[in-house]
Formats: sequence, structure tokens, C-alpha cells
Amino acid sequence: MRRHGIDRGNIVKQMMKAALVVFLWPLSVLAQDVTPVKAGGGEHAWNELSGEKLAALKRKGDVANGEEAFRLCKGCHKNGAAGSTSGLYPRLAGQHATVLIEQMADIRSGKRQNPTMQPFIGNHVLTTQDMSDIAAYLQTLPIPPNLGKGAGKMLARGKELYARDCATCHGDKGQGDAEKFYPLVAGQHFKYLLREETFIRSESRGNANPDMVKVIKLYNDDDLDAVADYISRLPPP
Ligand code: HEC
Ligand code: HEC
Repeated sequence: MRRHGIDRGNIVKQMMKAALVVFLWPLSVLAQDVTPVKAGGGEHAWNELSGEKLAALKRKGDVANGEEAFRLCKGCHKNGAAGSTSGLYPRLAGQHATVLIEQMADIRSGKRQNPTMQPFIGNHVLTTQDMSDIAAYLQTLPIPPNLGKGAGKMLARGKELYARDCATCHGDKGQGDAEKFYPLVAGQHFKYLLREETFIRSESRGNANPDMVKVIKLYNDDDLDAVADYISRLPPP
């Protein structure tokens, strides 16, 4: 019986255990994470995962806090994050949290220019945690009905272009890919889609995936219209 004696072996064991816990703790935080995080480079070279973006992706978002923080955004993005059929404000409801964080961080850093929204997303207004919380909240919201659509005159062409040039990334149903930061585009307002396509074509959407730019650069105005109209009619998941 050595209950009261000093068991050096045991103390060392305990110390090693404690050290291991401290060492592994950050990994367990990552493991709890709902959003998959991959290192920058490779196919993510356009979307370098570092700094605040990476920090926000690693944090676990709190849906209730996100709902509270989103009050600041409703003036433009509307109740239920439905956006507007005028296309001025995108629908954010149901978008992948990873995509939302990417876009918020890029708008905040100025990589994606959005002067209208800039004052509402500055460091003094939202914390990194708020960004994770808002993304977690928005991802849970159902996609509302009554989304803006186009004239419906070039849908066959839109379908063909979409299948050929867009589905590889945005998915055959427009569902996107959370892990790869490809946005869910199904059920987005037509006029917003069209404007973004125009920005992507003119290379003025600062954060556009270069492989997408290559494809859209070859599109004329009718192609842009046709494909945006087709996407806006894809039934939301
Ligand atoms: C003053 C109006 C305004 C406010 C307030 C505002 N936004 Fe925006 N937001 C916009 C506009 C306009 C766009 C689209 C810009 C463009 O055309 O590229 C946008 C785009 C976005 C996008 C990108 C969507 C996508 O599909 O790529 C996200 C994410 C976003 N806003 C989140 C927020 C959050 C979160 C808040 C609150 C903290 C907020 N916005 C407050 C006007 C606003
Ligand atoms: C190589 C993958 C890829 C291909 C191919 C691609 N996209 Fe994208 N798309 C993206 C990514 C990633 C984003 C988010 C912005 C960014 O970070 O590049 C995006 C964003 C968009 C947006 C803006 C969505 C929003 O919520 O703001 C539209 C509209 C869009 N794509 C349309 C298209 C169309 C139309 C095609 C086919 C002609 C296409 N994309 C092909 C990857 C792709």
C-alpha cells in the first residue's frame, strides 16, 4: 500500500495526461465543428482560408445568438432572410453556413465590394463569433416561396448551359456544396443572380472562383439571362 507515499511514476503519468489534454483541446474544438475546414491552396486558392475567415469557420455557431445578431441585417435582407424580388438584396435563408461565412468575411475585408452593406459588417459592429452565429442561424431557415423569376423565354437554352458549365460545381439541382464553398443557387432571386453573373463576367466580383470566371466570360447577355432564369426556377431543396 503506497496511498500516502509519493508515487513519482503516478505523478509523471498525471502530468503527461494533463499535457496531452492541453495539447489535444484545440483539436477537440475542431472536431465539434459543423463546418468542414480545409487548408488553403489547391482548389481553394481563390478562397484562402486564413485569418478571420478561418477563425469564424472553426467556431461553433449559436443559432439563438445568430437570430438576435441578424436583427441588424433585416432592414435589407428582410424577415426570414428572404431578400427581395427586385434583386437588390439576396435571399440568405437556407444558404450553406460555410458560404455565408466566406461571403461575410470577404465583404468585411473588402475583397468582395459591397459599399451598401459595409457599414453593417465592420469589426466594430459584428464579432467573429457573431459571424459564425448568424451563418448557423441562416442555414436553418427555410427557403421562402415567391422568389423573383425571369421572363421564362429562354429556359431550354438556360438548362443546356447550366448542365454544361455550372452543374459540376453548383450541383445538378443547384444545391451547391457546403464543403467546397459552392453556393446553393436554386431558389435565388432572378435579378440578383443576373447581377452577380454580370459582376463575375466583368471580374468585378472580387472573390469569384477563377474557373467560373473563365466560363462566364464567354457568355453573351442572353446566355446570362437564360441561365439565371433557369436557376431561379430550380425547386429549392
Ligand atoms: C444596407 C443594406 C444591407 C444590410 C443592412 C446588410 N446587407 Fe448583406 N447585402 C446587401 C447587398 C446589397 C448585398 C448584395 C451585394 C451584391 O450585389 O453583390 C448583400 C449581400 C450579402 C451576402 C452575400 C450573399 C451571397 O449570396 O453571396 C451576405 C452573406 C450578407 N449580405 C449578409 C449580411 C449580414 C449577415 C448582415 C447583417 C450583419 C447584412 N448582410 C446586412 C445589403 C445589406
Ligand atoms: C469551379 C466551380 C464553379 C463553376 C463551374 C461555376 N461556379 Fe458559380 N460560384 C462558384 C463559387 C465558389 C461561388 C461563390 C463565389 C466565390 O467565392 O467564387 C459562385 C457563385 C456564383 C453566383 C453568385 C451566388 C451568390 O449567392 O452570390 C452565381 C449567380 C453563380 N455562381 C452562377 C454560376 C453560373 C451561371 C455558372 C455556369 C455558367 C457557374 N456559376 C459556374 C463556383 C462555380
